[in-house]
Amino acid sequence: MVKAVVLGAAGGIGQPLSLLLKTNPSITELSLYDIVNTPGVAADLSHIDTPAKVAGYLPPDDGLKKALTGADIVIIPAGVPRKPGMTRDDLFKINAGIVRDLAKGIAEAAPKAFVLVISNPVNSTVPIVAEVFKKAGVFDPKKIFGVTTLDVVRASTFVSEVLGDLSLAPKVTVPVVGGHSGVTIVPLLSQSSHPLPSGFSQESLDKLINRIQFGGDEVVKAKDGAGSATLSMAYAGAEFAYKIIRAAKGEKGIVAPTFVNLAADKEGGDALKKEIGRDLDYFSAPVELGTEGVAKINSLGKITEHEASLIKAAVPELATNIEKGVSFIESSK
Ligand code: NAD
Ligand code: LMR
Repeated sequence: MVKAVVLGAAGGIGQPLSLLLKTNPSITELSLYDIVNTPGVAADLSHIDTPAKVAGYLPPDDGLKKALTGADIVIIPAGVPRKPGMTRDDLFKINAGIVRDLAKGIAEAAPKAFVLVISNPVNSTVPIVAEVFKKAGVFDPKKIFGVTTLDVVRASTFVSEVLGDLSLAPKVTVPVVGGHSGVTIVPLLSQSSHPLPSGFSQESLDKLINRIQFGGDEVVKAKDGAGSATLSMAYAGAEFAYKIIRAAKGEKGIVAPTFVNLAADKEGGDALKKEIGRDLDYFSAPVELGTEGVAKINSLGKITEHEASLIKAAVPELATNIEKGVSFIESSK
């Protein structure tokens, strides 16, 4: 029995994500919460002939609490998306408060659930959830995840495009580490399951890295004011959620990059801090998933000098983003 909850379920990501979760036969209950439209989305999805029992909730009558009670996994795509010219950090002003209030609800009604944070800026919203949980005395770093899977999905797609064969995309894996914004997104292309063509120039490599780092901007620009990635994000969010569920059911050996508190695995986290040369509390690292969430934080492995320089460039922005999220909760009552 798995109860999955989507907070922000009526939105651009929320609806297709809920659809994908409804198609997963492991999910037996699907609970949809938003400030608008969830009764309609739930009624619509409930006609699909898969096991999940679907229910929609709105804020009145303790809707958030009802949606969350008994949750095993909570996915949060609630909040405003970017428009052209904005950074993810520009979303902090609105989304920080939204994520804080939803996190308070989770801490009360479903403190043991796995929490998957999609709302931007992820580098700050994950620390916000963690700090709310700390204040409530229910913090377990193994169970809070920033969803960076879209960066991994993009890397697979763009590498297969470079290789001239999109049919490779589902098989190409590239670890993407760091965080989820611009230069904090660091693809370790030297570890791609499918090496780049021999003679691939530094200029082409720089272009490919830039495209992975700024893939979000590509979509924001193309949508021209109508928001950011929703469909590819729903796909990525569902993929990551399925991995969490499979690992929770006991499947071994599932590794995925995700933005976590490095205290989730003290030994692995400390080793990673040494590798990145800075005492950061959060980093998107290759994480081995287990029945309780984070089982092990893996090393970055062998990286090139160029990749080391990308990590070095990512660290200052990451540190600022993390601190911004932490102090938002520390300074609020
Ligand atoms: P959207 O505006 O289409 O949907 C957001 C939904 O959140 C809306 O339905 C809205 O009603 C709901 N909402 C607002 N306040 C709420 C609250 N207090 N409680 C519950 N629901 C609330 O936006 P979107 O395109 O779905 O994007 C959502 C967020 O996801 C944005 O912050 C965006 O930047 C982020 N995002 C992250 C990634 C990633 O890789 N992590 C990728 C794409 C988008
Ligand atoms: C993305 O990577 O597509 C998301 O973080 C949305 C955005 O603002 O770019």
